[in-house]
Amino acid sequence: MPHSEFLSQVQARTNNLLEKTLPPATGEPKRLHQAMRYSALNPGKRIRPALVFATGEMLNAEPGNLDIPAVAVELIHAYSLIHDDLPCMDDDDLRRGIPTCHIQFDEATAVLAGDALQTLAFELLSNPTNHSDYNMPDHQKLMMLNELSRASGSLGMGGGQAIDLMMTNSSSDLQTLESMHNMKTGALINASVKMGFLASDCQDQVILTQLTTYSSCLGLAFQIKDDILDIEGDTKTLGKPQGSDLENNKLTFPSLLGMGGAKKRADELISRALDALERIPLNSDKLANFANFIVNRSN
Ligand code: IPE
Ligand code: IPE
Ligand code: MG
Ligand code: MG
Ligand code: MG
Repeated sequence: MPHSEFLSQVQARTNNLLEKTLPPATGEPKRLHQAMRYSALNPGKRIRPALVFATGEMLNAEPGNLDIPAVAVELIHAYSLIHDDLPCMDDDDLRRGIPTCHIQFDEATAVLAGDALQTLAFELLSNPTNHSDYNMPDHQKLMMLNELSRASGSLGMGGGQAIDLMMTNSSSDLQTLESMHNMKTGALINASVKMGFLASDCQDQVILTQLTTYSSCLGLAFQIKDDILDIEGDTKTLGKPQGSDLENNKLTFPSLLGMGGAKKRADELISRALDALERIPLNSDKLANFANFIVNRSN
């Protein structure tokens, strides 16, 4: 199956699940629920759910057991984007081609919508309502909860965002830049793959090690490409303001290594990701296609 077809299927499935999971816009507090729905349902690429599905399907997990972690990680991602766009962070007014949450609603509502999307993710993983085909032992659910909460917190996405803000308007070294990217973006990408593994019955630690190498390389390459697109992309295709990093004087791969250096690093990481997959004795075509998509995408 071509990668675009797989991604379209995941997008449709994820959108459907999000629709079922998010509180109705007509329920009080309406403004908060409208803001949560506005940001989460607006069509993103859904690459984190796609990684949960691609990994879990490779390991023969039950589809119903993949739905919940796929939606949970997308909810965390949606929350991270709402907060990332706030005036106190990147101060951006366009996301996925429409006004950012704080522009469409207001700052307080945007902060609260982010908070509520985050907690909804954990509520869902622990005990989903409206999803009767989520059937796995409690210890597996707990491991997924642990994985997603660690990836979201101060040693994961949240911490990476803090370093991003600290490094704004200052120069730094490659090690700091890589660790910031691994945390702010890599952590949720790692968690997506890991939750696909945890939702299956696979216990093979060799496979897990290769998957971890794969997702770590993929996560870093994903953020490097995001930095590249901030310079080479255009606002309409990106659905977010081109040039935001330059305007905010952000520490990025192109700013530290130059465009050539950034592209070379992304290509190296994708080769390493593909090498890791080759060591897995299963059909990993979907994950391999993913790696190629990450560096060739235009949004
Ligand atoms: C954007 O993520 C923020 C980063 C972590 C680079 P995506 O590029 O996955 O955004 P959407 O979900 O498709 O809008
Ligand atoms: C954001 O990185 C990573 C998050 C945790 C949201 P960016 O600030 O580069 O993401 P974009 O470019 O605004 O999507
Ligand atoms: Mg940012
Ligand atoms: Mg940003
Ligand atoms: Mg960016």
